[in-house]
Order: sequence, then C-alpha cells, then structure tokens
Amino acid sequence: DDPTADPFEVARIAASDIAEATGVERHDIALTLGSGWAKAADLIGETTATIPASDVTGFSKPALEGHVGTLRSVLLPNDKRALVIGARTHYYEGHGVRRVVHSVRTAAATGATTMILTNGAGGIKESWKPGTPVLISDHINLTADSPLEGATFIDLTDLYSSRLRAIAREVDATLDDGVYCQFRGPHYETPAEVQMAKAIGGHIVGMSTALEAIAARQAGMEILGMSLITNLAAGIQKTPLSHDEVIEAGREAEGRIGALLAEIVGRL
Ligand code: 6GU
Repeated sequence: DDPTADPFEVARIAASDIAEATGVERHDIALTLGSGWAKAADLIGETTATIPASDVTGFSKPALEGHVGTLRSVLLPNDKRALVIGARTHYYEGHGVRRVVHSVRTAAATGATTMILTNGAGGIKESWKPGTPVLISDHINLTADSPLEGATFIDLTDLYSSRLRAIAREVDATLDDGVYCQFRGPHYETPAEVQMAKAIGGHIVGMSTALEAIAARQAGMEILGMSLITNLAAGIQKTPLSHDEVIEAGREAEGRIGALLAEIVGRL
C-alpha cells in the first residue's frame, strides 16, 4: 500500500514468497479463476502445493464468498507448471488499481508467459443462456483507470490473443466470443448503462479482467480471457439480478466449464 514502493519489486518479493512456500521456482502459465471457474484447478493437473493468498506479499484477504483466497501450484500432464490464482482483488473494493493487478504482476514474476483470465459476467446477447462460456475477443475499460503509471504508452492490439482463442476453438468449435466491458461495480449496471455498453460495441458486462489484461500485456504475457455468462445483463433479462443467481449459475456450470478450460490448458 506504500505509494512510493515499486509495484514490480513488490511482485518480485511475492514471487519469491510463492517459490519458497510451494518449492516451485518457475511457473509457465497462470490462471485467475473467477466465479464459476474454480473447478478447473482440480482438473488441469496435480496440485503439489496450496497456500493461503494472505501469506504472499501484497495479496489481500479474501473479500467475498465464492472467491477462494488460495494460490496453487499445479503440475500439468505436459510437465508445465501452472500457478492457479483463486484470489482476486476487485477494483470495486477500493484498494486501488495496483492491488487489483498485483496477482498478474506476481504471476509474471514467477516466470509465467501465459495469463488466463476468467470471470463470471452478464451477457448482452440474448442468445446466450446462463451457463454459456464465451471467449473475450477485446475489452472496453469503463473504469477510467489504468494499471500503468507515467508515460507508458503500450499497444493493446490483439490483447486477447487470437492464437489462444483459436486453440480454445479447437477444443470447442461452438465457443462464441464477445467484447467485455469492465464497469467499476459493485452494483450491477442500470438497463440504460447496458444499452450504452451495447451501443459502443460491448457484449459482456463485468467488474474485472480488463485492468488485469492491461497489466499482463505490459508484462509481456499472452492472454486468454473467458467469461461464464451467469445471467443476462439488466434490462436484457426481465427479472432483477441477484448475486445468489450468479453464484448458482456458476455452481451449475462449474464441472462443464472446468473440463473445457482444462482441455484448453492441456493444449497450450
Ligand atoms: Cl449483469 N454485470 C456486471 N458488471 N457483473 C456481472 C453481471 C452483470 N453478472 C455477473 N457479473
């Protein structure tokens, strides 16, 4: 939280905490598992260490039910190493964007060159039933914030790697994609805001991922983004939104989307 601290140095310290606690010096792939995606951790490979995120420098205490609060080192069948991040600091918690992207910078500092970002989100396309996984093709950052500080003019073309999306589609050719709009939250959008998101080219509304993807690009990582559509966005769905409904849709879908993600990870 020290504003004079170098966030990349804090991430290097966190990465050495992880190396010490897991006994694993380098990770190749990192996954942030959002609402509904937690099962993938058990399906991608063999977990060799699970550590509370609160033991790692710079990580916050778990904020919310359904958000696990652990980091795992997983040995994949192809002998690669995955760092599974079951602890996300959301922008709406108000701790600032540095804390939001700390896990991504830490993943990069452990050696990871691929960052998989997942979330539970609202759908704007009416054809998406709750429980539909979709690939993120691009984003619109509506937080009016950035993880970059100073004159860091980085390119965000193909931010969500078309190469990784193609690999995902080898596993499931029916996967749809869409543009993810990150709102600040924690309230859901008004129907008018959802119409705005649609008008400016959005298909998915959520409260995470975009800021993390920017930090991952800055760190030179290749990014795969996936949303689980847990509900249709306000005004698209005729009934009011509820957090319980979001959690329930995640529970219903978790086996299916966990297996999907595990298969994708197996091909990376
Ligand atoms: Cl409709 N909006 C946002 N911002 N986040 C969500 C959501 C909607 N549904 C699940 N997560």
